[in-house]
Amino acid sequence: MTQLRSRAWFDNPANIDMTALYLERYLNFGLSLEELQSGKPIIGIAQTGSDLSPCNRHHLVLAERVREGIREAGGIVLEFPVHPIQETGKRPTAGLDRNLAYLGLVEVLYGYPLDGVVLTIGCDKTTPAALMAAATVNIPAIALSVGPMLNGWHKGERTGSGTIVWKARQLLAAGEIDDAEFIRLVASSAPSTGYCNTMGTATTMNSLCEALGMSLPGSAAIPAPYRDRQEVSYRTGKRIVEMVQDDLKPSDILTKAAFHNAIKVNSAIGGSTNAPIHLAAIARHIGVDLPLKDWETEGHKVPLLVNLQPAGEYLGEDYYRAGGVPAVVNQLIGQGLIDEGALTVNGKTMGENCRGVAIEDEKVIRPFDQPLVEDAGFIVLSGNLFDAAVMKTSVISPEFRDRYLSNPDDPNAFEGPAVVFDGPEDYHHRIDDPATGITPETLLFMRGAGPIGYPGAAEVVNMRPPAYLITEGVHALPCIGDGRQSGTSGSPSILNASPEAAAMGGLALLRTGDRVRVDLNTGTANVLISDAELMDRRAALAAAGGFAYPASQTPWQEIQRAVVGQMNTGAILEGSEKYQRIAQT
Ligand code: FES
Ligand code: MG
Repeated sequence: MTQLRSRAWFDNPANIDMTALYLERYLNFGLSLEELQSGKPIIGIAQTGSDLSPCNRHHLVLAERVREGIREAGGIVLEFPVHPIQETGKRPTAGLDRNLAYLGLVEVLYGYPLDGVVLTIGCDKTTPAALMAAATVNIPAIALSVGPMLNGWHKGERTGSGTIVWKARQLLAAGEIDDAEFIRLVASSAPSTGYCNTMGTATTMNSLCEALGMSLPGSAAIPAPYRDRQEVSYRTGKRIVEMVQDDLKPSDILTKAAFHNAIKVNSAIGGSTNAPIHLAAIARHIGVDLPLKDWETEGHKVPLLVNLQPAGEYLGEDYYRAGGVPAVVNQLIGQGLIDEGALTVNGKTMGENCRGVAIEDEKVIRPFDQPLVEDAGFIVLSGNLFDAAVMKTSVISPEFRDRYLSNPDDPNAFEGPAVVFDGPEDYHHRIDDPATGITPETLLFMRGAGPIGYPGAAEVVNMRPPAYLITEGVHALPCIGDGRQSGTSGSPSILNASPEAAAMGGLALLRTGDRVRVDLNTGTANVLISDAELMDRRAALAAAGGFAYPASQTPWQEIQRAVVGQMNTGAILEGSEKYQRIAQT
């Protein structure tokens, strides 16, 4: 075992003055000199649960079992809070808080006497924030998912987090339910503690964390209230102490092979379009080159195997019973799609952990040769509207395919007039107004919703059609934008467009009425106007002061806007990536 870094605080004969000061304050709540000076690893529990973070709140309970595991393996526990992130409760958007929680956690992991850390993860941004910080500091780290909620039910049907909201909004817009029924329907999807039970960003990122090798095999899918969740909390606590003894660090696990494994798993599970942003961010903080195009080259041809809402029908409990991440990985191993040598937190490889893990319910996790959708990964588009954007093709509905992608003369391509919204407020004001002029041929655009324009990037690109079209049977229009999209939405939008309008990307030059052509064969999206005209528009916009967006409301919004990068490269705080593996320096 290498020298524990906590010795520099608690057992440093060369600086007895500071050692005494450090010791007296950590003794003051009952730790003993023996515990702090006997060479036991000091293990942090990075606590993301709180009353403000209901998705992760169960970690307050699970931490007791983590502590028992750490203690039993011979470690000392120092639990501390992480800046809360609650995806649905944070205004203006939780996207703003990922980098803030990252910053805070880096300071704690670097600046305090911690030899290893248990990262409690769950709600969407808590997972990337924690992994990004662990990558930067690079002390031994293991992630513990809080687990999804139990399945939601309403009148005998599964109601899934978020997904039911999109459905309920359509029913409300069409006058089929009233306000009270709207709330009842939505609340039915959240029957217990835990995170979203659909394949939204939370289930996605917790699954990918396991696929990256950063949490114990089989642990991601366990529902929050299950006893297995308590047990794996205990095992996670025990394991982090061994990881410190073995000096097993994030840089040993988060290799390029691990990221490519995660991309393939993301396709097979039908993972969220937020995953490319977060994996890019984690990769940059550990120093792995992961261009956005890798999502298409590594992931597009992988089929969808996991039948979870929004792409499918089941929910989190079903996913766990069917075998969770290891069963999915084993299907991919069978096709040679997984780098089996990738190391994981339990000290074994991905192959050792997952090879041979059977599917327990083939309705929920399909065998590789009976997929729900072929080629279920993302495609990466570019053109004169943006340099890069992603589209999740696995959620293209038959209705959408028929209307937009089935022209025999021009398959997998469509064009139409743009209707442009400047931010979500503009959309909400005008979407149902017939004067906005939306027809079934319209392409809806959302701009001003990126990391700078709507600080943190809002999940607003998936826009429903106007009520008057829904009642005529048009349930989805093509949506394109520089914001994000909730992983729980089943809309086949083109999103995360980079650079965003607020950074003077091509979307800033688009006008309502312009014709836009999207070609999935070539991966292009272009406004059909001349380069000369675009240059004129750019010059005019620049002369008018650039693309306008709302003023910052808080100090952090202003700070982040000044340094945040674009989504195709992870939307990290540019410059922060140069601080790598700082615990070793
Ligand atoms: Fe927290 Fe979905 S809102 S996990
Ligand atoms: Mg979300």
